[in-house]
Formats: sequence, structure tokens, C-alpha cells
Amino acid sequence: MIRSPNNMIYVLLITLISLSQAARRGGNGPIQEALSLGQSSNITRDDCIWRMDTDVCSKGIIKFMLYTKISNNSENLCDEQRSDNRNITCENNDVREAEIDMNSPAWLHSSSWNPSYETVVLVHGYGGTSDYLPTGILKDAYLRNSSYNVIVADWGVLAKLPCYIAAVHNMKVVAKCLAELFTFMRQSGVDMQKTTCVGHSLGAHVCGVTSNFLKFRIHKIIGLDPAKPLIPNALKSRLDSGDADMVQVLHTSSNYGDLKKIGHVDFYFNGGRIQPFCINATDEELCSHMRSVCYMAESIFSSNVRFGTKCKRRNVMIDEDPKGILNRMGSAHFMPVGQPTPTGAVGTYCISNVEAPFCLNEKNLIGSPYCCKPTSSVNKPSLIL
Ligand SMILES: *[C@@H]1O[C@H](CO)[C@@H](O)[C@H](O)[C@H]1NC(C)=O
Ligand SMILES: *[C@@H]1O[C@H](CO)[C@@H](O)[C@H](O)[C@H]1NC(C)=O
Ligand SMILES: *[C@@H]1O[C@H](CO)[C@@H](O)[C@H](O)[C@H]1NC(C)=O
Ligand SMILES: *[C@@H]1O[C@H](CO)[C@@H](O)[C@H](O)[C@H]1NC(C)=O
Ligand SMILES: *[C@@H]1O[C@H](CO)[C@@H](O)[C@H](O)[C@H]1NC(C)=O
Repeated sequence: MIRSPNNMIYVLLITLISLSQAARRGGNGPIQEALSLGQSSNITRDDCIWRMDTDVCSKGIIKFMLYTKISNNSENLCDEQRSDNRNITCENNDVREAEIDMNSPAWLHSSSWNPSYETVVLVHGYGGTSDYLPTGILKDAYLRNSSYNVIVADWGVLAKLPCYIAAVHNMKVVAKCLAELFTFMRQSGVDMQKTTCVGHSLGAHVCGVTSNFLKFRIHKIIGLDPAKPLIPNALKSRLDSGDADMVQVLHTSSNYGDLKKIGHVDFYFNGGRIQPFCINATDEELCSHMRSVCYMAESIFSSNVRFGTKCKRRNVMIDEDPKGILNRMGSAHFMPVGQPTPTGAVGTYCISNVEAPFCLNEKNLIGSPYCCKPTSSVNKPSLIL
């Protein structure tokens, strides 16, 4: 059908009106919770930032920060002391941070970029920024491994609380900008086969939508509990297995996250709905949603690799057994989760696990305090989606 411009404007108007009504109305359920995150929701359209232009990239509204670990430096560039006094990122004081300048073609070569390393591009979700949780956990973990260049896509300005609807709307310009970054990297000679887009929540969909704006294929996308509320079903608007050679998805929650099989390979933790160590957290759903990041961070260290087993009659099982115990040991097939999942892996894998993954404690010296069972206020993941 050929749409006349008038029709399109009409459709657009209806969409905008219904979206802003949804924002004002209050209402119940997961979408509303996602939008307001427990705050009273008298936000209006004008309180939020809505972008459709591509200037967001050139104007620095979206930033790409490059983090590299350098073997020896005299300068102390690391300023990221945690408030709880644990020196997670900075234990070696050798992390270098720089904002990528896509206007200068030689930028990457004059940076601390290491061409022999793999590169990960981390994309946060709603309410995130480059240093904010939970992306920071992943950044620290990759840097600590010491064999990755880490790029953090900071679209925090366009994903601010409490403007979830605006954040969903803005995903498209963010994806366009991310496509510019990938194109820039490729033109700089980066091996795109050694590049992975890792996105949490809305960020997972941003990685996927980016493929719409590229003339080449993304090699690998890892979607960490891709967001569900208000994400359209159209494949061009969300992460799906068509978006990269390899799309892997970790499922940890079912209201904020999407339980649907999305990738070539999907991992369901404890049934993919509620994580047992999140029971009694301030917001069990949100806590569970965030823990996909901890499972991913854990997988970056060879000593911590976790395996999934093929889910039996997956959808039925998942629905029958929301709290987990999905593993039927003896299943023939074991699949490593996260970073070490081999290219070409396909299928649906289940994992049951009662301990909070990647928790920093006496037993696990590689971890983050933010990944521990939420008991103290430090672990309250109340603002992360
Ligand atoms: C909501 O609106 C009322 C009345 O306009 C105002 O008093 C209140 O502070 C607002 N709440 C928030 C969270 O903005
Ligand atoms: C780092 O610098 C120290 C001295 O500052 C030197 O002893 C050490 O060998 C260097 N390490 C590497 C990997 O270059
Ligand atoms: C963290 O690093 C700072 C400076 O290097 C040091 O003074 C402090 O004791 C360290 N904290 C811990 C918990 O190791
Ligand atoms: C959650 O809290 C309830 C009530 O305080 C308690 O009975 C239950 O054991 C708690 N569950 C977990 C898993 O901590
Ligand atoms: C870091 O990641 C690589 C895979 O990219 C792995 O081979 C290596 O063992 C990891 N390092 C640690 C300390 O686990």
C-alpha cells in the first residue's frame, strides 16, 4: 500500500498521542512500572527528550568512550574509585579512557587501541550511562580480563529516567549513530569478525536495530535480557537472529525482559523469569533483569564458565517451571554461556543456579559487589532497566 504523506502524519500523530496518554494515564502492570519505576508518573512529553534527527551523533549527544588496559603507564588515569572502597576497576591503575572522535579518520590508530585484541561495544539500556550500573560491571570485567578493547556507547541523555517511552523512541537514532561507529571502525581497519555488540535491555535492541543501517553484517551480538515493554514486534525495530552472524540472548526476567526466543542461541536462567537470589529484593523483577549482566560478566573469565543444557520441550517446560530446576542432567548437549559460546551455536539452553553470579566475596575474588544477593542498599538495583 502506498501511504500518502497525510496518512503518515495521521499515523504518527495517533502514535504520539497514544504514547503520551499512556505516559500520563498511570495504569498498572509491567509497562507502567517500567515507565515510572515506582515514581509517581506525572511526566509529560515535554519533560522528555525525543530525537529523530541524526545530529545526535555529530553533536556529541551520544558518546563513544574507548577503554583500554595498557600494560605499563606512568600516568594515573584511573579515577573510578567505588564508593564502597573496593578498587574494582582501578586495582592496577592502568585503564585509559578516551572519547572516540569519528571526525578524524586516524583517531583509532593514534589511540591506545590494541589491534590484536577483540573489541566489545557495550550498550546500556534505560536509565544507564557509561559509568552507571550495570554496564560498568561489564566494562570492568572486560578490562580486567586484559584482552579486550572496550567501547561504551553512552546514550544516557536520550535514555533518562523517567522517560521510558522517549528512550524507546530514541533507540533508532542511537542505532544509526552506532552504525556510524561500526562503519568508522571498519574503515579504520578493525577486524569486524573480532567485534561484538553487547547490549543490555533496550541496549540489546539498539545492537539489533543497528544492522538496519549498515552495509555489512555485524558478526556477533549478545543481548542481555532484551527489553520487552513497548518494543514493537516488527523485526526492524528489535533484536532478532537476522541482525548478525551470531545472536546470543541471555534471559533472566519476564516482565522487563522478553521471554521469547530471539537469537540463534538463547539461554534461560532459572526459567528466565525470576532469579532465586532476587526473591525478596525491593523489586524482584528488576533485580532479575539486571542479573543478566552479572552472568555475562562472569563468562568473561575462563575459570567461571557456566554451561547450559538443552531445554526439554522448551516452551512447555519454561511455562511449567517458572522458578527453574529446568536442567535434566544427562541431556547430551552442554553449551558454554556468554563470551565463550562458539560461533555457529544454535538452540535453547537452560541453566538453574541459586547463587548470585559474579558476586565479589571471600570465595570469588573476581566479581562485583553489585552482583551480590541484594541485602544491603548498595545492591538495590532500583534504577536500572
Ligand atoms: C506531580 O504533579 C503535582 C501537581 O502538579 C506536583 O505537586 C508533584 O510534585 C508532581 N510530582 C512529581 C513527582 O513530579
Ligand atoms: C612496567 O614498568 C616497570 C617499571 O616501571 C618495569 O619494571 C616492568 O618491566 C614494566 N612492565 C612491562 C610489561 O612493560
Ligand atoms: C584502593 O586504592 C587506593 C589507592 O590506590 C588505596 O588507598 C585503597 O586502600 C584501596 N582500597 C582497597 C579496598 O583496596
Ligand atoms: C522472603 O521473605 C519471606 C517473608 O519475610 C520469607 O518467609 C522467605 O523465606 C524469604 N525468601 C527468601 C528466598 O529469602
Ligand atoms: C580472557 O578472555 C579470553 C577469551 O577471549 C580467555 O581466553 C582468557 O582466558 C580470559 N582471561 C581470563 C583471566 O579469564
